[in-house]
Amino acid sequence: MRKIIAITGTPGVGKSTLAKILKSKGWAVLELNRAVVRKKLYSGYDKKLKSYIADQRKINKYVKLWIGKQKNERIAVVSHLSHLLPTKLVSAVIVLRCSPIVLEKRLKKRKYSKIKIKENMEAELVGVISCEAKQKHSAVYEFDCTSSVNSAFSGTEKVFKGQKVKRKQIDWLV
Ligand SMILES: Nc1ncnc2c1ncn2[C@@H]1O[C@H](COP(=O)(O)OP(=O)(O)O)[C@@H](O)[C@H]1O
Ligand SMILES: [Mg+2]
Repeated sequence: MRKIIAITGTPGVGKSTLAKILKSKGWAVLELNRAVVRKKLYSGYDKKLKSYIADQRKINKYVKLWIGKQKNERIAVVSHLSHLLPTKLVSAVIVLRCSPIVLEKRLKKRKYSKIKIKENMEAELVGVISCEAKQKHSAVYEFDCTSSVNSAFSGTEKVFKGQKVKRKQIDWLV
């Protein structure tokens, strides 16, 4: 069974920006959030949060099938949920990070509600996704994408090639 590289991070950190670059460099990229909506990989809709409730079992099944269909050598799944995929489907996790102050500006531009901006800033500040990823997977790499996703791109390529990549711990609280 082939494995994917999971690209994750708080909304607004730059996942879709990196996905675009990876695609232009020949990677097959599954943008999971889109698939969740298009392929109905949810169990319902949360009216308060105005978002679908992702169904992990449906997602896992879909990703497994997607992997089987890919011809490209390099495959990635991009989503703030990608680190929740089972370890048997994931070779490494790339966590994109962004300074919470910059993240706030990006999410404001996106017209997120005040409460959603606060929630995401707090999650990024304490590193919720990074923690979740490290609890589940052993190969987890973090990249600071506050000013550019370039280091995340070169890091992702290196991780794929099995080259040595520095394990940087990003902590916005220090
Ligand atoms: N390094 C960067 N510098 C400035 N703006 C950026 C940078 N990376 C991403 N952005 C912008 O921030 C917003 C969120 O980026 P996006 O890639 O959509 O994040 P995500 O997919 O993780 O939610 C977009 O408007 C994008 O153009
Ligand atoms: Mg995105």
